[in-house]
Amino acid sequence: MPILEAQNMKKHFDGIPAVDGLSFEVEKETITALVGPNGAGKTTFFNIITGFLEPDSGEAFFYSNGSKRDISRLSAHKVARLGIARTFQNIRLFSQMTVLDNLMLASNSRKHENLSAALFSKSHVSRAERENLDRANHYLEFVGLTGKIDSLAENLSHGQRKLVSLARAFCLEPDLLLLDEPTAGVFPETREKIGGLLEKMREMGKTILFIEHDMHFVVDIADKIIVMNAGKKLREGKPEEVIDDPAVIEAYLGKELP
Ligand SMILES: Nc1ncnc2c1ncn2[C@@H]1O[C@H](COP(=O)(O)OP(=O)(O)OP(=O)(O)O)[C@@H](O)[C@H]1O
Ligand SMILES: [Mg+2]
Repeated sequence: MPILEAQNMKKHFDGIPAVDGLSFEVEKETITALVGPNGAGKTTFFNIITGFLEPDSGEAFFYSNGSKRDISRLSAHKVARLGIARTFQNIRLFSQMTVLDNLMLASNSRKHENLSAALFSKSHVSRAERENLDRANHYLEFVGLTGKIDSLAENLSHGQRKLVSLARAFCLEPDLLLLDEPTAGVFPETREKIGGLLEKMREMGKTILFIEHDMHFVVDIADKIIVMNAGKKLREGKPEEVIDDPAVIEAYLGKELP
């Protein structure tokens, strides 16, 4: 069963294709890795799916609650409410805010939350706030950062900020998570920890599509790899089928995979 289906997605910048006819499916309750050299179009694809960019052409469908929805031209806000959360390559926490406040902010765009009810009913506000607080605590514990709840984001290490950005995405309780290089620049032990968290999310019925450059990590946790090059899908398949493929190695400048 797919949860996400991209069909012939295209996006140009100043006449130069960044995503150039990309089609693929992501199966429900799996971990799929999107890999490819720098500039392949991976982040641009995420930006299209999550409503940060409009595609020039093509469609993206999201399957949830038995219905199929074209999400390719929805706003970021609407996409989040449907149950798709993302993280950013450059983290994007509010550095002058505490970890808790960063997480509480995310909860406000959660799916199913009825904003007008929240605005017009005081009891609803406090109940919603209480639930947001519980969720923030829960996911902070999940990523092992309970002790940092009152720290300013700017005082965290890089690895801790990566973990908070994951917790923030988890707080949205999405069905589908798009993670843009969740382990970039972290120490090996944090990478292992993040791998464990993603596997737990999959066990909890979540679907994960993540961008990653560390091929050892990808092979360890991904059910499927999609390789992009120059805006196109080069290969897809099980990790062991993909990593020794000569076309894939060639795309990585003919060197051994990173
Ligand atoms: N907003 C933009 N304006 C102009 N060009 C852009 C913009 N965003 C991306 N590009 C270009 O589109 C291409 C794809 O970029 P993208 O960031 O999607 O690649 P990527 O696969 O995520 O690379 P990396 O692994 O380095 O993060 C690049 O050539 C990039 O310079
Ligand atoms: Mg990128």
